[in-house]
Amino acid sequence: MPKDKVTIHQLKARKQDGKKICAVTAYDYTSARLVDEAGVDLILVGDSVANTVMGLESTVPVTLGQMIYHGETVMRAKPRALVAVDMPFGSVNDGAGRAVNRAVKVFKRTGADAVKIEGGKGLAPVVEAVVGSCIPVVGHVGLMPQYRAMLGGLKVQGKELEAARRIIEDAQAIAAAGVFAIVLEAVPAPLAELITSRIDVPTIGIGAGAGCDGQILVLHDILGLSVRPPKFAGRWADLGDEMVRAVSAYREAVRSGSFPTAEHSFKMDKTILAKL
Ligand code: KIV
Repeated sequence: MPKDKVTIHQLKARKQDGKKICAVTAYDYTSARLVDEAGVDLILVGDSVANTVMGLESTVPVTLGQMIYHGETVMRAKPRALVAVDMPFGSVNDGAGRAVNRAVKVFKRTGADAVKIEGGKGLAPVVEAVVGSCIPVVGHVGLMPQYRAMLGGLKVQGKELEAARRIIEDAQAIAAAGVFAIVLEAVPAPLAELITSRIDVPTIGIGAGAGCDGQILVLHDILGLSVRPPKFAGRWADLGDEMVRAVSAYREAVRSGSFPTAEHSFKMDKTILAKL
């Protein structure tokens, strides 16, 4: 473990010291190595792997085995950042005992530092049981893509009074259940700010405005690799265009015969060659 490894206690302290938490997703060894080198505080092995890596429309089909696989590959980068692995759809919804067993499996097999659980008040007993089994949990309320069918699609949550009250209650319930941070996804900025002021664990926003204690984005959106990035995603590079450019240049070099050159080839003794 890196000696300056980020801990849940350091992240919790950010609420008081005001230094914003910077979080990003990663799904494999290389992306984890690079985002860690960039100095982020938290790496999420998100079930958004469904959209970014697997080409699926929804996160619902992702399995526990797939999350463990991606978690293992991320952990091979030995990140200094704290790493949380998403518990996929259906893995925490059939009772606290089973949820704990699955969280233990993810925690042991991947060696990650925490799991993330999408869900509000209704899942608070599950969160409490997982935390009670000594596995740190990041919560996730507001827009919960795993429950898109129940939420009526992937849209901003909490614009109406009752919906806003429910999200506040969700955040308070899972904070009381022991999460060390809460992802607030796609909620109006003033609501996110209010929630942030009413709970004592840090909030990490995505599409939730600047009033949160930190921000998280999907790596492919940051890098310009996503086909349809959400409105709230920022973008800091055009690696998609750059990748097409590089591979096209390679294709041209192969077709024109300018690649490979002697520099890319292995030599052989001429006397041996003559005997073949
Ligand atoms: O799966 C994911 O990437 C997430 C983030 C969008 C917070 O849950």
